[in-house]
Amino acid sequence: MNDLVVISASGGVLEIRFNRPEKKNALTRDMYEAVSTALERADADPAIRVVLLTGTGDTFTSGNDVKDFQGTDHAPRGGSRFLPALSSLQKPLIAAVNGAAIGVGTTMLLHCDLVVAARSARFVMPFTSLGLVPEAASSLLVPRSLGHQRASALLLLGEPLDAMTACEWGLVNRVVDDAALMDTAREMARRLAALPPQAVRLTKRLIKHGVPDVAGRIQEEIGLFSELLASPEAQEAFAAFMEKRKPDFSRFS
Ligand code: COA
Repeated sequence: MNDLVVISASGGVLEIRFNRPEKKNALTRDMYEAVSTALERADADPAIRVVLLTGTGDTFTSGNDVKDFQGTDHAPRGGSRFLPALSSLQKPLIAAVNGAAIGVGTTMLLHCDLVVAARSARFVMPFTSLGLVPEAASSLLVPRSLGHQRASALLLLGEPLDAMTACEWGLVNRVVDDAALMDTAREMARRLAALPPQAVRLTKRLIKHGVPDVAGRIQEEIGLFSELLASPEAQEAFAAFMEKRKPDFSRFS
């Protein structure tokens, strides 16, 4: 079987690539586990200075595998280890967004220190239309950095953002041609990897210090999210996605 997450290290940079292009890099529990282990090891390994996240093909990731959301087995979820590992990573984290970033594909970027996007990238957080609430502390971090109205458009309506708008709004550092994405992101990673590591780690910690209780919000969201996964409206949304039809929420109050 192909590795669904490809992990490679070179020159102090650990590259983690979502590698399930036939399912648009939808994240399964095993994939979350593999990424979480890689992140935890990156922090523990002095040879690793920087972590770089990207995806294979035309999608960064289409978010959590919707099939994993169906049915009654809702615990423990992949995200409950991945999100704390991501948000508490001490070393700098760069994302190279190579296409659509859906759900956790966008919310994980809120925990990245630098984000480079291909021109074809777009960002969507369709939680309400799936009968769910936001995760990864996005309910705290999106309004805090983009403002209430923009947060409502993205999180309540689930409006998509194109790469240039995401850059103007501060979600992305740079937009580059698709073909230049990996060279640009790797060059950034190499520059960071060459800097004094302790100073880099402490600076990252200081930058993140001003944000109140991200860990607490992640847990609060996980509680609500897990409850809602079992709700009839969410199950209707998942079934509709898998059956490639429009969901019908008219019977719910
Ligand atoms: N979970 C499970 N399967 C997924 C998936 C997901 N998150 N995203 C895509 N897939 C599957 C599709 O079901 C399809 O499978 P099939 O070939 O067996 O029919 C395959 O990946 C290709 O996806 P498809 O939708 O046909 O490609 P597209 O180019 O038309 O659209 C996306 C790509 C990413 C825009 C679309 O798949 C999408 O919106 N996915 C997001 C799902 C979602 O709501 N994620 C958030 C979860 S919180």
